[in-house]
Amino acid sequence: MPSYFSFLCCGNSPDWREGWRFGTWRIFSLKELHAATNSFNYDNKLGEGGFGSVYWGQLWDGSQIAVKRLKVWSNKAEMEFAVEVEILGRVRHKNLLCLRGYCAEGEERLIVYDFMPNLSLLTHLHGHNSAVCLLDWSRRMSIAIGAAEGIAYLHHNATPRIIHRDIKASNVLLDSGFQAQVADFGFAKLIPEGATHVTTRVKGTLGYLAPEYAMFGKASKSCDVYSFGILLLELASGKKPFEKLSPTIKQSIADWALPLAREKRFEEMADPKLGGRYVEAELKRMIVVALVCAQGAPEKRPVMVEVVELLKGELKEKLSNLENDFISKPELGRNVRGFSLADGVSVANKSKGDAKLDADQISEVREKLR
Ligand SMILES: Nc1ncnc2c1ncn2[C@@H]1O[C@H](COP(=O)(O)OP(=O)(O)OP(=O)(O)O)[C@@H](O)[C@H]1O
Ligand SMILES: [Mg+2]
Repeated sequence: MPSYFSFLCCGNSPDWREGWRFGTWRIFSLKELHAATNSFNYDNKLGEGGFGSVYWGQLWDGSQIAVKRLKVWSNKAEMEFAVEVEILGRVRHKNLLCLRGYCAEGEERLIVYDFMPNLSLLTHLHGHNSAVCLLDWSRRMSIAIGAAEGIAYLHHNATPRIIHRDIKASNVLLDSGFQAQVADFGFAKLIPEGATHVTTRVKGTLGYLAPEYAMFGKASKSCDVYSFGILLLELASGKKPFEKLSPTIKQSIADWALPLAREKRFEEMADPKLGGRYVEAELKRMIVVALVCAQGAPEKRPVMVEVVELLKGELKEKLSNLENDFISKPELGRNVRGFSLADGVSVANKSKGDAKLDADQISEVREKLR
């Protein structure tokens, strides 16, 4: 068992990373990162995503790091890579994962982060930490608000403004106090246009994709809002973005949630692992906000600053109007403009030249919809 599991933190201890937050940003040598990660040993591997593998490591001063070793195709010129990582490194917010530096030597491109002792939301909701329910309701609520604040900062305050493009449970990390740290923002910029990573990323992230992103491949802030809505449903219910109803039928979490919400059956939607211990009004709020975010029409989705306010309960009137809309107006569903993910596939099929989905992705979408 890799030693990082022993650092899983349950308490509300002070944030041990504070010293780094506004502290030194630096270039790491490959030698140093080899030493820290035991030469990128398999036992140190935290996981693998669309961009490469992530390894746990420990520096000479005892501090723990997570090192993302990018795949070979991310072989951007050293200078260009350095400039873009430095831009991301300057983005600082309490709910955005802090970059500590990078390494660009020869073919290697690595990014160094603070290690998050409580790993990701994914491990708590569906992974090896899900058996013990460390995410009580108040933690879930503060993770939802914190993650929303981090994304709102990217959309509205960061210079340059950043569209995340890959919001999902494995990209919401948890610090020692279980505060949300959104990771991997702006990553798509590090990868050359048209690189094959798109297939991998769409594959891994399908349940979170806004229909118009699946159809035209055009990322926008409202695609992030959609993905965040799916994430909120996951956080409230403990369900996965797509669930297998039978060997051949899969259902998206939004399609599961919408009819229940319309019938006000919110208590049936709470994660059973909570054992009924949640604040009813907050659960309802989280679900209604989630469904408003994950609706089909991008122009009807709220912007992230509104999402923060809605989640905090600061826009009570607006929230109750939205809730009433759910009950009385069926068109508030996911496919408001008559578009659905299935249509996206057919659009992509018809106009292969313009469509951003390749054959693999289309069959993947089909597979998920089957
Ligand atoms: N700083 C970190 N501290 C702890 N765990 C981390 C850290 N960074 C990444 N991880 C975990 O390492 C694993 C691999 O991360 P990675 O970002 O490569 O893949 P991913 O999040 O599954 O997909 P994507 O490439 O789309 O982001 C994930 O489970 C992620 O939660
Ligand atoms: Mg990630």
